[in-house]
Amino acid sequence: MQNIGIFYGSSTGNTETVAKQIQAKLGADNATTFDVADAKAGDIEKFTNIIFGTSTWGIGDLQDDFEGFLTEISNANLNGKKVALFGLGDQYSYSDSFVDGMGEIYEALDNKNCELVGETSTDGYEYDASKAEKDGKLVGLALDLENQDDQTEARVSEWVAELKNQFN
Ligand SMILES: Cc1cc2nc3c(=O)[nH]c(=O)nc-3n(C[C@H](O)[C@H](O)[C@H](O)COP(=O)(O)O)c2cc1C
Repeated sequence: MQNIGIFYGSSTGNTETVAKQIQAKLGADNATTFDVADAKAGDIEKFTNIIFGTSTWGIGDLQDDFEGFLTEISNANLNGKKVALFGLGDQYSYSDSFVDGMGEIYEALDNKNCELVGETSTDGYEYDASKAEKDGKLVGLALDLENQDDQTEARVSEWVAELKNQFN
């Protein structure tokens, strides 16, 4: 398992911090991080395994830089690649739009012919609605640094261990 690109959009640094944690757990030799504010379709295409991470702003809006990056995802050839998602949000203040941004990325991957890995259980979260929930599961790793930061480390560790099994 090598050749992992981690692409994050972050407004106040939280998603960036988590992206670096994920990179460290995967091994810095295996994974490279990119701020999507500066990344292009060609950067995505270099990798066999891809992680997209975003926060959610407004009421259920994708983080600003990631919103622009959707065009790059749309232009990228993702055929046969493995893709995992993570999203940051606040499940109590934004209980009807918890990590919706991650759901937006999921929808943008429709018809991209890539394989989604790293879905997670909704157990342990208390939101009312999320665009990132499909068929009773979360489409990726959801993190809530405002309310459940004491669980971040364990959630990231467990998720990365799963990715190590799934990634090529
Ligand atoms: C004005 C504002 C709007 C937000 N809207 C949402 C939201 O709709 N859903 C959600 O889950 N989190 C929401 N959040 C929480 C952020 O996603 C969370 O603070 C996140 O950790 C920010 O990460 P970043 O610094 O990487 O951008 C909002 C936060 C603020 C301050």
